[in-house]
This record gives sequence, structure tokens and C-alpha cells, in this order.
Amino acid sequence: RKTSLTGIKPTGEPHLGNLIGAIEPAIEMAAGEYESLYFIADYHALTTARDPEQLAHWTRSVAATWLAAGLDPQRTVFYRQSDVPETFELTWVLSCITGKGLMNRAHAYKAARDANVAAGEDPDAGVNMGLYNYPILMAVDILIMEAHAVPVGRDQAQHVEIAADIAGSFNHLYGSRYRFVVPEAVIPPETTGHTLPGLDGRKMSKSYDNYIPLFLPAPKLRKLVRRIPTDSTPVEAPKDPDSSAVFQILAQFAPDDVVADTRTRLEAGGVGWGDLKNQLADVLEERLAPMRERYEALMEPGSELDDALAKGGEIARERAGRVLRSVRHAVGIA
Ligand code: TYM
Repeated sequence: RKTSLTGIKPTGEPHLGNLIGAIEPAIEMAAGEYESLYFIADYHALTTARDPEQLAHWTRSVAATWLAAGLDPQRTVFYRQSDVPETFELTWVLSCITGKGLMNRAHAYKAARDANVAAGEDPDAGVNMGLYNYPILMAVDILIMEAHAVPVGRDQAQHVEIAADIAGSFNHLYGSRYRFVVPEAVIPPETTGHTLPGLDGRKMSKSYDNYIPLFLPAPKLRKLVRRIPTDSTPVEAPKDPDSSAVFQILAQFAPDDVVADTRTRLEAGGVGWGDLKNQLADVLEERLAPMRERYEALMEPGSELDDALAKGGEIARERAGRVLRSVRHAVGIA
């Protein structure tokens, strides 16, 4: 049976992009034929998180989001990355067979470097070793659980390719003693743009601070939706749905027939951006309200969330331990 695995970094409130790009596709896979392991990547968050209480809060909040969105902890091994310390031992082993050049090419590090260069600063200013090694830690998350399929948004595809490269290097060196499963990213098919756009039209991201959180009270949600930029095409003029961030978000959340109808009406003219924003706010509220209620109950201290994570952590740890023992043997330690 094939295994699907994915993680979310608790560096902010979960947003619409996380739900569409990772959470919902992953839950769908878990309901189908896949064995599934989903986790909260709390140690990954430490590359940027500096406020301990915030980190603890967001870790809980991401966990509550998974459960509110429908993850069934009886079916899915659901855990915190930090409950699997075997991860760090394997991170060292794999660091020793990973070329530095591969890390130099990783997007997140390259983007930080390019921004520094553009600003005339030291290329590595503000870059910590955690950010640099990030893809190795992520490869370990995947490889230590012997996952085949990794449901992620497009922005994480390169990281999964790096994990596959690292697995390949290991298998090449030690394959007669132990072989890692070579993972593949599973990226949701997107009908409109590449990734869900945010409040400024760029990719919705915690790092750009342009995201729409999942669990806002209705009036705040509406206010945020109003902030999505639009051009100044007059109400009566025909509009291009595909170049509109409002439409792209709507397309991911509204039923297909509503999306098709909205497209026709925009192209015909007579619908203003303000109307479209109101429609989007209604669509989001309808989809998110029941989830918000479950989320709030799960965030209460002593909710079933704690128990679910504790049980999942144990199972995950045991599984990682088995793989780690094989790796130790393969490389000649233990
Ligand atoms: P993170 O926490 O940035 O994002 C979590 C998931 O949400 C997806 N996503 C999006 N999808 C569509 N549109 C968007 N605007 C959008 N924004 C985010 C991301 O692609 C991701 O799937 N490094 C990972 C966490 C991680 C991980 C792993 C994932 C750590 N170890 C092992 C898979 C396997 C990250 O920072 O995701």
C-alpha cells in the first residue's frame, strides 16, 4: 500500500492557500487508498520563529485546522515533527551525503540571497544555517516515513525533488543494505493560475503577509476580501476573469457551476469588482463557517486534539525508529 505524507509549518495562522494546496488534497488521499501520515513541522518553523508562545500557539492552531478540516486521526497518523527526534539523527547522516551545491540551488535560500544582492548587502545577511539546511530536514521528514506521495502546493515541489535526489544518492551508495523509497510530489491540478493568489496578487503566503486566514469572524473576512486589488475596469465593461485574483480564489472555493456562471457574467460585462468581492465573501463564509466552529472547540484546552497528537506521535516515532536502525546498519554505525 502506498503512503502519503505531508507537513505544514506553524509560522502563522493557517490560510486559504494551505487548505486548498495541501490540507484538502491530503485528506482526500487519506480517505482513499493511501496510508497517510500528516504532521506539523514545528522544528521547520524555528528557522524564523522567535516568540516561544506564538510558536506553541500556532502549532496548536495548525493541528486544530487539520482536524477541523476533516482529518480522521483513526485513519491518519497525525503528529508533531518534534515528537520524532529520530529525524535529527537521520538529518546528520543525510547531510553528509548531500552536496552543498544542491542546497545553494534551493529556492528559499536563493531568494534570500538574491534579495540581499539586489539590496547591495552581504549575500548571506540574515541567513541562518536552519534556512540553508531546510531542504535536508524536509527530505528526512519524508524519507524517514518511507512515503511515496507528498501532496503539496506547487511552491514545495522543488523540495520534494531534492528529497528524491537525496534518496537516490543514498540508494546509490548503500542500496545493497537499505533503500529509501523515492518520493514524488502530488500537486493539485489548478484550473486557474499556479498557486492561490493573496491580498496583493502575489502567491498567498505567510512570508508575504498577504494571506487570508481561515478562521476570521465573518465581518473581518469580508473586509479582507475587499482589500484584494482589482483594476479600474468600469462596471459595465467586459472583464478577464483569469487575470483577477478575486476570481481565482472564487474558482477554488465555489462549486463548478457557480464558477462557470460567474465567468460568463464577468466576460459579458455589467458585473463590478465590488459585486464579485461580495460574492466571494459569501462563498468563503459558507464554506468556512462550519469548519470555524469545529476549530474553536478544538482550540479549547483539554480538547481531543492533545490526545490525538500524543497517540500519533508514538506511532510515528516507532516507525521512524525502524527506518533509522536500518540506516545506521547500512552506513556502518551500530
Ligand atoms: P508551508 O507551511 O509553507 O505550507 C503548507 C502547505 O500549503 C501549501 N501552500 C499553498 N498551496 C497553494 N497556494 C498557496 N498560495 C499556498 N501556500 C502554501 C504549500 O505548498 C504546502 O504544501 N516546507 C513545508 C512544510 C514541510 C513539509 C515537509 C511538507 C516540512 N516538511 C515534508 C511536505 C513534506 C512548508 O513550509 O509548507
